[in-house]
Formats: sequence, structure tokens, C-alpha cells
Amino acid sequence: MKIVILDTPEQVASYGADRFADQLRHKPGSILGLATGSTPIALYEELISRVQRGVLSFALASTFNLDEYLGLESTHPQSYRYFMNEHLFRHLDIDLANTAVPDGAARDPMVACEAYEHAIQQAGGIDLQLLGIGRNGHIGFNEPSSSLASRTRVKTLTPDTVKANQRFFDEGEFQPHLSLTMGIGTIMEARHILLLATGESKAMAVRATVEGPLAARCPASILQMHPSATLVLDRAAASQLDDVAFYQYIEQENQRLPGSR
Ligand code: PGA
Repeated sequence: MKIVILDTPEQVASYGADRFADQLRHKPGSILGLATGSTPIALYEELISRVQRGVLSFALASTFNLDEYLGLESTHPQSYRYFMNEHLFRHLDIDLANTAVPDGAARDPMVACEAYEHAIQQAGGIDLQLLGIGRNGHIGFNEPSSSLASRTRVKTLTPDTVKANQRFFDEGEFQPHLSLTMGIGTIMEARHILLLATGESKAMAVRATVEGPLAARCPASILQMHPSATLVLDRAAASQLDDVAFYQYIEQENQRLPGSR
């Protein structure tokens, strides 16, 4: 794992945008794995700004999102499809037909999950997968105890996750407790993984991911097994790590290598 510790959330977003820009420069038709939540918003704003300045293009790219609520139509303002359209896709030069989000309104969710796996494979697999992390270490909606080999499927959200996301729903509004999510095995097949974490509320999950044992209790800890996973943290998210000085030393050394990012 590559651990990058930066001073501010803005620097985390900018580092993430550079990583996406590098990927698209190297392969304009990249298959990108995307995430929702509050963490990626600043990164998405930076990508939009670069596209609007004409220095970045998604015209040939395709995307697959990690997850979606089960039981929400794509037009529902809290659906992740709606989130992606609003926060990213409609501001980019991407063809909406090349953006995929699991179908939360599918009549047969299991079939939809299988179709999603198939579509990822047909596209040639994900080149760069963006991840956030839950306070309990979840990635996508793979909550603690998820099989580390799981594929796209229906998952129950923990009460804590439901509570953490309650702020997005109106009082009395239906809030799903089920989701469709790429599995951990699915995520692990991405060629490169970029996990962003900011703020103190993520510090314990980051610690368990980087310095804890590999365990289903902290799904993100599986990234210890990925050959190309980068964790980009602000100081607050890195605040519970024991070996900060060592990670910073490695990064300084890496800077000296050509094409290090
Ligand atoms: P957040 O969510 O970016 O809103 O903190 C991340 C996640 O739960 O995966």
C-alpha cells in the first residue's frame, strides 16, 4: 500500500484529480470505478473544473459506480445515480450511456447484480477504482463481516451506516436499509485503487486498514493484499497511525523516482 499523507482535504482532492488525469492521459478510454459520499465531492469539483478548462476529457471513458440503494428509482434525489449525475456526469464531456450505476429499482436485484459483474468484465475490467471508507471500515456498502471474496450483491446496511446517511433524507422519508454493491472481490480486481479519507472520524478505520490485521471486521484491510492501492489521507484521517514518519519517509524517497505518482 502506498500511504500519502497531505495537510488538507483540498490537497487530497487535488492529488486524486491528478491521479485520474494521469490515468486518462495514459488511456483516454479508461474504465473508471467511482464512488459517492461526501469525500469525493471535492475531487469531482476539481475534475469538472479541469474538463471545463479544456485540460482533461472523459469523452472516451466509461464508469462503473460502486453501489446504489435498493428501492430507490434513479430519479430519486437520494439515489446514487442522481448524485452522480448532479455532482459529476452532467458537468463532464462523458457520454451518459457509458456511465453505469447498479440498478436500485431492478425487479430482480440478484439478476441486476450478476448483469453488473458481467458488464464490468465485458468492458475489460476497471482500470482505476476510487474508494471512500466508512467509519467502520466499509468500502462500497461492504459492511464489516462481508466476505473478502464477495461479488456484486444485495447487502444490508449497518444501523450506523443508515444513521450516518440519515442527514441526506427528509424526516419521515423512506430510507433504504438495503443496497446493491460491488463485492470486495470485484473491487480487488481493479488494476489500481485510490482510497481517499479525510477528517478525524475516519482515523480509526484508516488505522485498522493500514496497521490492523487483514480481517472482514475491517473490509478495507483487504487493500493490504492489492498490488496497486494508494491511500490518500489528510492529517486528521492519518492521526491514529503509528508509523506516520515512516510513510512520509517512503513518500519522500518515492518522489525521487521517475513517474512516481
Ligand atoms: P463519506 O462516506 O465520504 O460520506 O464519509 C464514505 C463511505 O461511507 O464510504
